[in-house]
Amino acid sequence: MTDTARMSRVLSNLQLSRDFFLMRVAEPNEAKMGQFYMLRSWGMYPLLSRPLSVYDADPETLTFLYKVVGQGTKLFSGLRAGDSVATGRALGNTFPVVTGRVALVGGGVGIAPLYLTAKTLKKMDASTRLDLYLGFSDEAVLCGEFEKVGDRVVTDVGGFITDRISPEDYDWVLTCGPEAMMRALYGKCEKAGTKLYVSMERRMACGFGVCLACGCDTSRGRKKVCVDGPVFPAEEVFI
Ligand SMILES: Cc1cc2nc3c(=O)[nH]c(=O)nc-3n(C[C@H](O)[C@H](O)[C@H](O)COP(=O)(O)OP(=O)(O)OC[C@H]3O[C@@H](n4cnc5c(N)ncnc54)[C@H](O)[C@@H]3O)c2cc1C
Ligand code: FES
Repeated sequence: MTDTARMSRVLSNLQLSRDFFLMRVAEPNEAKMGQFYMLRSWGMYPLLSRPLSVYDADPETLTFLYKVVGQGTKLFSGLRAGDSVATGRALGNTFPVVTGRVALVGGGVGIAPLYLTAKTLKKMDASTRLDLYLGFSDEAVLCGEFEKVGDRVVTDVGGFITDRISPEDYDWVLTCGPEAMMRALYGKCEKAGTKLYVSMERRMACGFGVCLACGCDTSRGRKKVCVDGPVFPAEEVFI
């Protein structure tokens, strides 16, 4: 049995906008904020499973937010309640547990891991001040849901979400999104002296450290995003 052969039942797969879908599956799990699964809902082709971050999790279910960009995600979008999807196990490291004044910044489908992250950080310390900055290129999704887990939600459609945040207002910033967005945010955080953690994306084949597909140069040498990440301190990867 391969690592991704564990089958889970689809409970719902909602279309939120033209390209964004929210899929909930029945799967006992202990997934943590920032982790991902390698999913597939097909046989031999496409060859590779596709990595998706955990948007939300409870002990019995997992929820994934995904954007249709190619063949694999298109196949996910055709799944209906009752269908099966191979999930495997939660992979990768997690966002750090931080308290105080915290900002979570997401760009596009990079908002996916931030929901469970916000929920987890608030649960661990209710006094944490947690603001969410969500940037979208055309249509905002799930803002009402994020309002339930953060103290303040700032959204931007069509502009640059990085223009909306002042990192000096925060002790910690955690982010996921396009690399250019995360680099711009790093520039601002560095100037403000605010620590930034980034969730990196690379094409992945195995997801658990054996194929070397997901290499990333860091200040500590070449790392595998699937097992050493996806979360890294920004200063280690933006060198
Ligand atoms: C750790 C991790 C977590 C992720 N979490 C999510 C998530 O929660 N929701 C979500 O929608 N997507 C997420 N992604 C990206 C997602 O895995 C890809 O969009 C997906 O694999 C594309 O598969 P496809 O067959 O639809 O597209 P393909 O036909 O494989 O590719 C279509 C286009 O997308 C680009 N692409 C494919 N994979 C990636 C990638 N990993 N990084 C950048 N560009 C890519 C290709 O270059 C191509 O232009 C994550 C990626 C990683 C590495
Ligand atoms: S995806 Fe295979 S080593 Fe990272």
